[in-house]
Amino acid sequence: MDGVTLLSDYKPYPYEIEKISLVFQLAPEATKVRATLAMTPRDGVADLHLDGEDLKLLGVALNGAPLAAEAYTLTTTGLTIAASALPEGAFELQTEVEIAPAKNTALEGLYMSNGMYCTQCEAEGFRKITFYPDRPDVMTRFHVRIESDLPVLLSNGNPVGQGAGFAEWDDPWPKPAYLFALVAGDLRATSGSFTTASGRKVDLNIWVRPGDEDRCDFALASLQRSMKWDEEAYGREYDLDLFNIVAVDDFNMGAMENKGLNIFNSKLVLASPETATDTDYERIEAVIAHEYFHNWTGNRITCRDWFQLCLKEGLTVYRDQSFTRDVRLGALKRIDDVAMLRARQFREDAGPLAHPPRPSSYREINNFYTATVYEKGAEVVGMLATLLGAEGYRKALDLYFERHDGQACTIEDWIKVFEDASGRDLGQFKLWYTQAGTPHLSVSEQFENGTYTLTFEQVTAPTPGEPEKPPRHIPTAVGLLGQNGDEVVPTQVLEMTKGRQSFTFTGLAAKPVPSILRGFSAPVVLERDTTPAEQAFLLAHDTDPFNRWEAGRNLARDTLMAMAQGATPAPDYLEAVGQMLADDAATPGFRAACLRLPGEDEIAAALAKKDVVPDPDAIRAARRGLMATLAQRHEAALVGAYEGSAVPGPYSPDAAPAGKRALRLAALALLSTLDQGRRASALYAEATNMTESIGALGLLVAQGAGQAELTAFAARWGADPLVMDKWRSVQAMLSPPETAVEVVTAIAESGAFEWKNPNRFRSLLGGFAANHAGFHRADGAGYALFADWLIKLDPLNPQTAARMSTAFETWRRYDATRQTHAKAALERIAGTQGLSRDLSEMVGRLLG
Ligand code: PHE
Ligand code: ZN
Repeated sequence: MDGVTLLSDYKPYPYEIEKISLVFQLAPEATKVRATLAMTPRDGVADLHLDGEDLKLLGVALNGAPLAAEAYTLTTTGLTIAASALPEGAFELQTEVEIAPAKNTALEGLYMSNGMYCTQCEAEGFRKITFYPDRPDVMTRFHVRIESDLPVLLSNGNPVGQGAGFAEWDDPWPKPAYLFALVAGDLRATSGSFTTASGRKVDLNIWVRPGDEDRCDFALASLQRSMKWDEEAYGREYDLDLFNIVAVDDFNMGAMENKGLNIFNSKLVLASPETATDTDYERIEAVIAHEYFHNWTGNRITCRDWFQLCLKEGLTVYRDQSFTRDVRLGALKRIDDVAMLRARQFREDAGPLAHPPRPSSYREINNFYTATVYEKGAEVVGMLATLLGAEGYRKALDLYFERHDGQACTIEDWIKVFEDASGRDLGQFKLWYTQAGTPHLSVSEQFENGTYTLTFEQVTAPTPGEPEKPPRHIPTAVGLLGQNGDEVVPTQVLEMTKGRQSFTFTGLAAKPVPSILRGFSAPVVLERDTTPAEQAFLLAHDTDPFNRWEAGRNLARDTLMAMAQGATPAPDYLEAVGQMLADDAATPGFRAACLRLPGEDEIAAALAKKDVVPDPDAIRAARRGLMATLAQRHEAALVGAYEGSAVPGPYSPDAAPAGKRALRLAALALLSTLDQGRRASALYAEATNMTESIGALGLLVAQGAGQAELTAFAARWGADPLVMDKWRSVQAMLSPPETAVEVVTAIAESGAFEWKNPNRFRSLLGGFAANHAGFHRADGAGYALFADWLIKLDPLNPQTAARMSTAFETWRRYDATRQTHAKAALERIAGTQGLSRDLSEMVGRLLG
């Protein structure tokens, strides 16, 4: 098929590149890039293709002599030199091109952000900088010279020369082009150092715009914690003398792991108590860790081709999740991660965009930086760790680093390492990488003469292009509790490999209560007919914190599903919440997680799974109704939790005070349904940190109130775009559905909305997509508004437009009227003249 890249078409590149030397003469409208490549044919002379896009070619020279025009062909995708024009052995190829970073609105390649130059090369951005084999399996050493009058000139590796108007950098580690980076601007550093386990001192810098220096301390400390953890948990030391992080305001994604020069979206670096929430702090630490961990899992060992993306991303997410668990959140981390996995990845897996962690075809690789590649990829690594145990996992990872350091690898290489380290056959397990869809696991139980039997059955519904789903290898962690809450059988991992399979436990005095899928040991949907009483029992007694939370979550979800179809709330659930609230042995953070109700989208998904067409307005009414019922029923306890979890004194982002603030806001959310926002208004007025300010503001907005507070917030923070993103987000996400479209339109059309900046665009439109009943408004106004903005953004920034289009991935869940409106919006996008490859691939799949 035209324009489709297939995994099965992979061929090694016919040339080796010994080194590349780059010279940049920076100018906003006409930057010159001279590249000198030292090349050797691998297997005899072949046609030489270099990728290149939007480059103005100024000259090509072979071994120092200009190349005749007949010797090469230039197309919109690159430069090809005929084999007949090339010598037998090694040669040097030089090209010179001109590019215009100031005109680059796609934020891929070399571009400008607030007067500073920066680059983004993953996945295929380097081809917008110079002619080069822009593929991850071509690795070489980079030498870079930057010529510019700007004060700070950075690239990968070590500084090797500096003078008036130039700087030179040399990276001793061979790397693929996607890890290249260059930054030039008027920047200030917050500096520190880290001494590695073997005693080498590494200089650390966080570079930001003048004025932002006072918001960098947390990022620097996070980097130091990450470096230490990777030594302790994985035995991995940093390998250069310098590590730079740069914050930029215009960035399509979260951050990028360029060798020795990580580039970050400024919202994931800058933090102060007044401007950042507890969640921001937590994310900053996690993303700093993530990008740092890529130095080994991504950079030293990289991907052979982009189909293997989850090799670096799944593993690195698994590593950053483990880090946050270890240094910050403990068991709560798993709860947060699973909630996120379900909201994003299960949703993706159940719709038209479903794909395996390792896809086998794509049109635009930028469309595959997905929850499936990242978060499901991490789950698959987690299952390997569960199957091998902690020691076996560490042994496998040691072997991975030993065997593959310096290489560009595949999922097959990765699995082989686990097989060799454990002696196990992981052939069936590999299906997790190559097949899409979330398995549904149903369980039944039997008890007879002291023998307890659990029977599991697994079914995975068809996904696009995959009608048949063979059974997967599913590690199911199970523990058994006695009727008094004691653990009678501690956690064991049952390995399911068949479609239907039974496991028995003998010698039991009485029928136990099972706690299944502890720690969420596999990314599956567990289906089990249990009584609300049993769920309430688990919420009160389960020794596995994840399953304890899960039991409460199941109760809440079932209650909400029933209420959305007209029932009244289940008494067992209301009772269980009261008991949980009163459990002083549980941490405030855990109680907060238990108090938070499933989101409207999650309820809609659960109904759709049961073949009930979800009604967004009824779901919203049910959720708000349940909040009010809980508040009435437990008012005194909630007031106690609200008042008792105030955190006096100076702000600290640590887990314990953050957990208290979370409980305080979770209790306030319920109480606000009774007091007309009185407490939220008061909290807003007295708050001294952003967590409570924005938390209180959101609760007011959700009630259709808060006008005075919104005005005051804008007056205070109008000059701080990152903080104003929160102001836009809460309004877009939480405004009542009757007014959300109008609220978003008004903000969008006010002159202050800088929609070309991805953070600004996401704050408003991304917030709106998360307003379930607002986005899915029955008259289609939400879909139409969203489509208008995607069409507007696409010509400037296709990558972000395409990512945002996932707002439509659930459109087939809803009633015929909504479907008609959603389809019309998607068809209008599809029919737009000159639509990007990114967005047209997405819309094609969404309509597919
Ligand atoms: N590789 C980056 C990460 O996950 C994400 C990214 C992809 C950033 C593409 C920019 C462009 O850490
Ligand atoms: Zn990553």
